[in-house]
Amino acid sequence: MHERNIVLVGFMGSGKSTVARVLTGCCGYRLVDLDAEIERVAGEPIAEIFRRRGETVFRDLESAALAGCVGAERIVLATGGGILGRPANRETMRRIGIVVYLRARAETLRHRLAGSTERPLINQARDWNEIERLLHSRMPLYEGADLIVDTDDRQPESIAQEILQHIREQQDAD
Ligand code: S3P
Repeated sequence: MHERNIVLVGFMGSGKSTVARVLTGCCGYRLVDLDAEIERVAGEPIAEIFRRRGETVFRDLESAALAGCVGAERIVLATGGGILGRPANRETMRRIGIVVYLRARAETLRHRLAGSTERPLINQARDWNEIERLLHSRMPLYEGADLIVDTDDRQPESIAQEILQHIREQQDAD
């Protein structure tokens, strides 16, 4: 089995945490959920960090949590949807492992986010158009990933297999 860490990126609702769990089951890596790590360090839920301290403080905590993963081995890292906003984070992610974008169509995301109550940026948005604008503004950043995997109408197991297959092929080619 490969030894490269796997870093999952993508918009809210793209299935990063679910696919990360499946991946860890397949390859015996440890799961690191960056949002959970931020909550652990901050001692409060992300919605509270946004509400009481603001997004900039959240982004600082996020960057610090990401930097804390440099040097980790055999991890699958599920990141938050806005992590690519800071250029330094993009650099840090590449040092951690292969960056995989879980891509989903806007309609798929809309469907998946319909029941979301804990995401501050979804709660804050006036309407879906505002969320879709955020999605489009981030797309070029997501598309800079090492690997892009389409997730619409697919099961997490199949997505995980595609990622592992890609890594194996890449390793064979090296
Ligand atoms: C955010 C995504 C969230 C979380 C925070 C901000 C974003 O993570 O980090 O609410 O800016 O897109 P998920 O992508 O896991 O929902």
